[in-house]
Amino acid sequence: MSLKKIRADELQVGMYVVMPTSWQAHPFLKNKFRLTSRSQIDRIIEAGLEEVLIDTDRGAAPASKPPDPPPGPQNAAGEKPAKPPRKPKESGDEKPDLVTDTLREAIRDRKLPAEDKSRIVRDNAMTMMNGLLSKPTAKNIRAAREVITEIVELILTDDATTTYLTKITRHDFYTYTHSVNVGLLGIAMAKILFRGSNGHNMHELGIGFFLHDLGKVQIDQTIINKPGHLTSKEMAVMRRHPVLGYQLLYEAQQMTEECKTIVLQHHERYDGTGYPKELRGEEIHLYGKICSLADVFDALTSDRPYRSKMDPFSALILMKKEMIHHFQRDLYEKFVLMLS
Ligand SMILES: [Fe+2]
Ligand SMILES: [Fe+2]
Repeated sequence: MSLKKIRADELQVGMYVVMPTSWQAHPFLKNKFRLTSRSQIDRIIEAGLEEVLIDTDRGAAPASKPPDPPPGPQNAAGEKPAKPPRKPKESGDEKPDLVTDTLREAIRDRKLPAEDKSRIVRDNAMTMMNGLLSKPTAKNIRAAREVITEIVELILTDDATTTYLTKITRHDFYTYTHSVNVGLLGIAMAKILFRGSNGHNMHELGIGFFLHDLGKVQIDQTIINKPGHLTSKEMAVMRRHPVLGYQLLYEAQQMTEECKTIVLQHHERYDGTGYPKELRGEEIHLYGKICSLADVFDALTSDRPYRSKMDPFSALILMKKEMIHHFQRDLYEKFVLMLS
């Protein structure tokens, strides 16, 4: 064991942390574990731990420190401007190691409280989507399938954890957070609709919901991250993402045709006002309709640079009052029931 003390804000995904022995001093179930997601680091910082031990034999070592930058500008009060919020680390160059032991153990641990289990599942799903959206190779898509398969299995067999997974969501505007939220909501909805039916491959469906926005990786990131409304030209570029995502999965030969349909149709609308094909009513596959409900709901309940998030109740009311023609009404009603 080779322990080294570092500042909490210097932690990186891949490091092996050794927390204080009292579990009450930190927000994790285990005292020693490998960091698999940016959100775990955020939780360490939020818990007020300023310094943490890491074991450099079992995980990544800190990178050598760059020279200190020259002193920055100061404001009128003589204080330095606050640091911009840290963006989650892009981990696309790491080898796919997406099904972590923590995830496997948590999913199989029958004694683990549902709230803790859902937190571990969500953290791992976020790391998986972050890696995949950074580098959507066939190899990474294959690795993501493994994680999603585990998560789908959990949702199908564990109602208590599913409740936490669908009701406690993160609300930032990163594509990977959104993908995880839509993935979880979509699978939970499919579970309700297809209970007792053998006609649906829930694992393939789950992959479709999680990867519905995969095509955004091929869109100019200045458009994806634009802090404001898009111009009509930018909107036309953005609207290509369902077709681009479909093509990516087609080339990677990673999904069934029905599930690629989720990616292609999640912006179609029941009244024919959607894209890319302006399909209407029964022309839209049921899987595409489920995804569009989860997609719109998550967009409304997440913060955007140009507007604040809505609470779930207000979002559902808005969907009913102003958008109900976009959805198949009975599906919308089942979606509301699921969340109530
Ligand atoms: Fe989309
Ligand atoms: Fe989406």
